[in-house]
Parts: sequence; C-alpha cells; structure tokens
Amino acid sequence: MLDYQAILEEIHESLKKVENTGKVAAYIPELANVPKDKFGIHLHLITGENYSVGDASEKLSIQSISKVLSLAKAFQLVGNDLLERVDVEPSGHPFNHLSLLELEDGIPRNPLINSGAIVVADILLSHLKNPKEDFLNFVRELAHDETISYSEKVTESERLTGFNNYAAANLLKAYGNLHNDVEDVLDFYFHQCSIMMDCRQLTNAFFVFANKGKCLKNVQHLTSSQVKRINAIMLTCGFYDEAGEFAFEVGLPGKSGVGGGIVALLPHCFTIATWAPALNPKGNSYLGMQALEQFTTKTKLSIF
Ligand code: DON
Repeated sequence: MLDYQAILEEIHESLKKVENTGKVAAYIPELANVPKDKFGIHLHLITGENYSVGDASEKLSIQSISKVLSLAKAFQLVGNDLLERVDVEPSGHPFNHLSLLELEDGIPRNPLINSGAIVVADILLSHLKNPKEDFLNFVRELAHDETISYSEKVTESERLTGFNNYAAANLLKAYGNLHNDVEDVLDFYFHQCSIMMDCRQLTNAFFVFANKGKCLKNVQHLTSSQVKRINAIMLTCGFYDEAGEFAFEVGLPGKSGVGGGIVALLPHCFTIATWAPALNPKGNSYLGMQALEQFTTKTKLSIF
C-alpha cells in the first residue's frame, strides 16, 4: 500500500524549493489579489480515504474547472444533441481565442474553451427553470456540500473586464449558436466561473467522473458512456494548447482554471485537486502541473 500522505508531503517539500516563475491571473482584477504562495493538494481515493497538504481547505475561484460541471449538467439534460452545437476536438489554441470560431461557422471546437462553455451555458439557460440556482444545487449535490456558493465579487470583476467573452458570445449569436440574450448567457457563465471551492470539495465534486457517473452518495447522475466522453474531453481539451503536455507529463484527464486550481482523476481509483495560483504562460497553474507530474510518477498511477 502506498503511503499517500508521505507522497503528498514530499511533493509539497520539493516544490517549496522551485522558483515559482508563474504569474497570478490579472485580467480578472479580483484574482490578482490572491497571494501567489498559496499551495494545496487534496487526494480522494475511490475507496473513501482522503489525504491533504498545505492550503487544501482554503477556497479558490474554480474558474474554468466549472466548465466540466456545466458540460456534465448539459449532457444530463440534452444528451448527444449537445454535439450539434459544440465539437469535441482539441483546439490547440488558448482558451479565449476566437479565430477558429469564425472559420468554423460558429461551432466551438470543444466545450472547455470559453466559446464552447458559453454555448453550454446557453443550453443550460434554455433547459433549467432557475439556471443559477439549479446549477449551484447540482454542484452542491455532486460535492455533497451545501456551503458551496458563487462569489459575486469575482462575477462582477470578470463582467467588467470580460471583453473577450462578450466578443465570443456576440460572434456565437451572429452565427445563430446562442439562443438566449448575450447578457443573460454571460451572467450565467461569469457566475459559474466564480464558484468558490477548496481542493477537497473539488475532489468530491469530480468523484462522479471517477465512479462511472455515481456521485459520493451513490446517486447515478450520468451514464458510464457520458462519463467516458467527458473524461476524453478533459484529457484532450482540458488544458487548451497545453493538453498534450499535460497528457504527456501527468497522464490523467483533468481540468485547470485561471484561479490556479487543477482537478484530475484516474477512473475507478482517485480524484486529486491542486491549488497554486501562479500560472504558466498558457494559463495553467505552474506548480500544480508539476505537483501532478510528480504524483503520477511517484505512484505510477496514470491512465497509461
Ligand atoms: O472566461 C474566462 O476567461 C475565465 N472565467 C475562465 C478562464 C479559465 O479559467 C481558463 N483556464 N485555465
């Protein structure tokens, strides 16, 4: 039996010695206030054991990690009809790029880049009675935690500087791939990105993707085929133009966010979340990527 706590501590110690050349995201002003030296890891085994180091119980802005949860909800609601409005190919481009969207007639490359997540948000708006409330309840149910909530401060901060997302939403609207009002869709999207969770809550929420669609409480939320597909999308698209590098170095499906969080999982085995706010030039956590590389190398646990 591996000594997981000792492994997490070794990783923590070794990363204290690394010069952190990453930069905290500043294009959402509220995120720039987060101290660069925060660092946490939480590991949740499918058998129920939990291990933590560092700041794993401090809340972070989950940002793009929320795109996996909104994708899951949309899949649950509309099934494969989703694929008529968003593709499942890696983009090889940064998360906020728009050029492919125009070249490909308003069909985003995948649901994890911003334009794709905005289409998914539009689908949720069309199918949920009280979209923001219902989506938050879905996340709370997956994580089995009623305390999870939106940060209105982060939502407002992102709205004020969200020019790129306004451009994406307007382009989608022009192509007929946005059915609701741009403002309403972006209000939902900015809220989903502003959800605050700690590393442990993230591993709880993502348990469903390691457990064939059943959440912590054994409720079946997704079919095993949907889970297979969501994990495939995380593996191929979860890190944008660094998805190849993450698969190469870490070898797990996962998702990053510009709040510095990363969640990854090994189906039928574990979910793991890291938090280190400073990002590399591709918008993924500089130390989080290294922590996960060390974890799968030391434990020899990856999908490959
Ligand atoms: O829309 C945005 O730009 C942010 N709310 C989310 C971007 C993000 O987290 C990219 N991930 N690394």
